[in-house]
Amino acid sequence: MAKGFYISKTLAVIGILFSVAAMATVIGLSVALSQEKAKNENSDSTSDTYVGTTTSSNSITMQPSNEIWNKYRLPNSLIPDHYDIELQPHLTKNVEGLYVFKGKSSVIFKCVTATNLILIHSNKLNYTLKAGHHIYLKAVDGSNLPSIQKTWHQTTTQYLVVQLNSNLETGKTYEISSEFRGELADDLAGFYRSEYKEGNETRIIATTQMQPTGARKTFPCFDEPAMKATFNITLIYDPQYTALSNMPNISTTSKNIDGKQWSVTTFDRTPRMSTYLLAFIVSDFSNIEQPGSKPQIRIWARKKAIEENQGEYALNVTGSILNYYDSYYNVSYPLPKSDQIALPDFSAGAMENWGLITYRESALLYDNEISSISNKERVLTVIAHELAHQWFGNLVTLRWWNDLWLNEGFASYVEYLGADFVQKKWNIKDLILLNEMYHVMEIDALSSSHPLSSKEEEVNTPAQINEVFDPIAYSKGSSVIRMLTKFLKESEFKAGLNSYLNAFEYGNAIYSDLWTHLQQAVNASSNLPRSIKEIMDTWTLQMGFPVVTVDTASGKVTQKHFLLDPDSKVNRPSDYNYLWIVPISWMKNGVVQPGYYWLQKSEEINNDFKTSDWVLANINVDGYYRVNYNKENWDKLLKQLQNNHSVIPVMNRAQLISDAFSLARAKYIHTTAALDTTKFLINETEYMPWQTAIGSLDYFKQMFDRTDVYGSMKKYMKQQVFNLFYHFKDVTNNWTVRPSGLMEQYNEVNAISLACTNDLQECKTMASDLFNNWMNNSSYNPIHPNLKTTIYCSAIARGEEKEWDFAWKMFQKATVATEADKLRAALACSTKPWILNRYLQYSLDPTKIRKQDAVSTITYIANNVAGHRFAWDFMRANWKTIYTEFGESSFTMTNLITRMTQRLSTKFDLQQLEQFKLDNQDPGFGSANRAMEQALEKTKANIRWVQENKEAVHVWFNTKINSSL
Ligand SMILES: *[C@@H]1O[C@H](CO)[C@@H](O)[C@H](O)[C@H]1NC(C)=O
Ligand SMILES: *[C@@H]1O[C@H](CO)[C@@H](O)[C@H](O)[C@H]1NC(C)=O
Ligand SMILES: *[C@@H]1O[C@H](CO)[C@@H](O)[C@H](O)[C@H]1NC(C)=O
Ligand SMILES: *[C@@H]1O[C@H](CO)[C@@H](O)[C@H](O)[C@H]1NC(C)=O
Ligand SMILES: [Zn+2]
Repeated sequence: MAKGFYISKTLAVIGILFSVAAMATVIGLSVALSQEKAKNENSDSTSDTYVGTTTSSNSITMQPSNEIWNKYRLPNSLIPDHYDIELQPHLTKNVEGLYVFKGKSSVIFKCVTATNLILIHSNKLNYTLKAGHHIYLKAVDGSNLPSIQKTWHQTTTQYLVVQLNSNLETGKTYEISSEFRGELADDLAGFYRSEYKEGNETRIIATTQMQPTGARKTFPCFDEPAMKATFNITLIYDPQYTALSNMPNISTTSKNIDGKQWSVTTFDRTPRMSTYLLAFIVSDFSNIEQPGSKPQIRIWARKKAIEENQGEYALNVTGSILNYYDSYYNVSYPLPKSDQIALPDFSAGAMENWGLITYRESALLYDNEISSISNKERVLTVIAHELAHQWFGNLVTLRWWNDLWLNEGFASYVEYLGADFVQKKWNIKDLILLNEMYHVMEIDALSSSHPLSSKEEEVNTPAQINEVFDPIAYSKGSSVIRMLTKFLKESEFKAGLNSYLNAFEYGNAIYSDLWTHLQQAVNASSNLPRSIKEIMDTWTLQMGFPVVTVDTASGKVTQKHFLLDPDSKVNRPSDYNYLWIVPISWMKNGVVQPGYYWLQKSEEINNDFKTSDWVLANINVDGYYRVNYNKENWDKLLKQLQNNHSVIPVMNRAQLISDAFSLARAKYIHTTAALDTTKFLINETEYMPWQTAIGSLDYFKQMFDRTDVYGSMKKYMKQQVFNLFYHFKDVTNNWTVRPSGLMEQYNEVNAISLACTNDLQECKTMASDLFNNWMNNSSYNPIHPNLKTTIYCSAIARGEEKEWDFAWKMFQKATVATEADKLRAALACSTKPWILNRYLQYSLDPTKIRKQDAVSTITYIANNVAGHRFAWDFMRANWKTIYTEFGESSFTMTNLITRMTQRLSTKFDLQQLEQFKLDNQDPGFGSANRAMEQALEKTKANIRWVQENKEAVHVWFNTKINSSL
């Protein structure tokens, strides 16, 4: 799956204006924490003694828990070989007002250990009983057939249990068949229903999301990734629709069922594959196709979206990316076709179903007129991610979900290579630093983090399986794999990967199998200090990462587990004592030194580091760690940044800022020393250092934007961004054309956002003029999609009621979701108390703001310094309503509490927060309980931080302001 849980670019841009850029971290942090908590609770509760009370007449209640059907993992006594599945979704309501699907399926399996029990996954399916039993059993190879004693649903573990009067025989093959019905609910899991509007007509789609445990809600199956089988799929549907599945359609016929004509489409047999990669879709979508391509490549979407050419970009890039992966893996694409489809309702970002990839619309469709460059980047990288899985993950599958990090980490790394192949001038590979590594390091630097790899026996229940899909798996996974590809030669990495894919194709592997195959490909000349497994174990089997300190006075180099909060206690033991085998690439006085220095102990001396020149470690930030230096070396690096920063690679300019601010938070260096790393920005035009600084300074803004420090901070920021603003004005020919590169376009947006929020008059006038032009002719919006978020926000902040009302009107008229989102965010930028209060009222009125957007609208207002107080009062006054409406949705409540409280930093704030908690013991905070506790902790930490730093920071800003500006 592609991660669906990261902050959107719109939000990130608004972040600059309002200081929520660091939110990604905080959200990630609370997600990590709540997952941590859930893990503990689950492991407690699975040790109980009795399970399962169900109402169904032939369910068993009160079974002792050591029975095999109370274990969440299948016994390995039966191995599936082939399924025949026939599904008939009804896209109109039945007499009970429900959408349902009917199904028939059979599975041929082999008995490898004699047993009188058949356990097969089945969830929320109603069976037609045959001779009093849920299923019908047959012996395929003429062996004797045991009779069925009884069958029942074990709902907790989601099994259909078949108890036999005698054993199935080892080595013999059997077949189970069944008929069933399920609900086609709109729950985004298993076989489900999605609705959308075409004009004013509601359309229905039947589609699937099997990963991780949805297949068992669609048909009875051995629903574990290692239980690979072949599948013959047949879909029966209303003739006005089209049916798709993993394999090509081999025949469509017409059939009369219950007095009605139905289309019956049969698909070619799949290769051996996992159940979680199946897909079945019935829709009235249309498609575009790459003529004559092999494999066949098609993009599917709503008819209107296809008519508007929104699938063109995806179609154009898919062929190139597939070709690239063909040669990268040196294995050709395993299937005859590749369909990709954009669904209006989809929970993740995308899902890599083999041969039929499903996407959220915003992750596949791109509109040349309306979409921004970041929309384009997202489409490209998500496609590259899902296509990477077609080999790594689909052809070779990890045996169990505990190794998910390798599957997702790998795809999250390779997606950058695939995307880079298509957009060669974007330097997109560099973005892994900001998008994955620095993002996840914030979470991984907490004592509550967890290792990448978990033990197979620790992941059992569907809830535990869902928990492994977290930022550690995706972003840390991709960062450590990137590190591995850098210290191996590229040829070695590709050879090892190819040998791994060939060895396990159509089968399953565990993560260390990859290390083994890479090791075989490594040349003796590679100079690795230890085996790949030994090196990688230190990164995958223990949580966190080191801070490496290089002391150029003594040549001493040390490592220590890096914790953001220096007072936090680490309770999780590590077999490696929180020491890593660290590859250190480095440069001296601007000259890259050959090879790596491998740090293995907590403290070593390397005389090469003892020098009066400056030393910079971790070139291009290939390694997953932070770096600190002795003060003299820091000073020399700062001096180099100021004299000629281009000697230091651009990624390392970002690194120096990011490491310094992180080290300051962990109290390794002083806060003002971190601020010193932002001075050279006055001469910097590149995106990566700027973006890093914006993220790092965000916390300062939150803490000080209601104090006198903020005046000085704004003057400093205005001074720093001045050159950048005029640089882009020049490059863009007075803001009329966009710069060519991806990062240049992003940094143009940064320049405008920073200049406008820090009161550069020309910027504010430019924004208001553009907006006025639009107001004067609302049928033509002259603002480029890239700049909309920032221009709208600036113009509304500066404007009056008339600007706000115009934007509100355009919001109500918007037909494109991304446009509506940009306007909805910008409407929160007003500085007028009465307008903000009115907007808060609108947020809970579903005729004005859709319910799904209510909470994010409130948080947009809270993120605006002018609106924060009102939003905070509003939330407290309306807590019971908000709780009743949204209490079920964990993510929403957690976001609300986290964002609403992020600015709290005084004793008075703390009192109010404590009072709020006290006043609402009933109804409580539901899924946001953890967020509430964190908010109290964070507020206390904020109070301390402000006390310790406010004065020094204020003085620092004041002394850095050039009075002539
Ligand atoms: C919406 O529905 C009305 C009446 O049902 C119909 O007359 C009109 O043409 C429809 N509009 C669109 C855009 O389909
Ligand atoms: C499955 O479909 C293939 C053709 O796609 C057919 O040859 C085969 O007989 C079917 N049944 C089984 C059990 O493989
Ligand atoms: C900016 O660059 C100029 C030379 O190009 C240099 O003299 C100046 O010190 C630099 N300023 C900062 C703050 O880095
Ligand atoms: C830039 O564009 C603005 C607005 O269109 C215009 O007023 C201004 O004169 C232009 N400046 C230059 C230097 O062309
Ligand atoms: Zn994925």
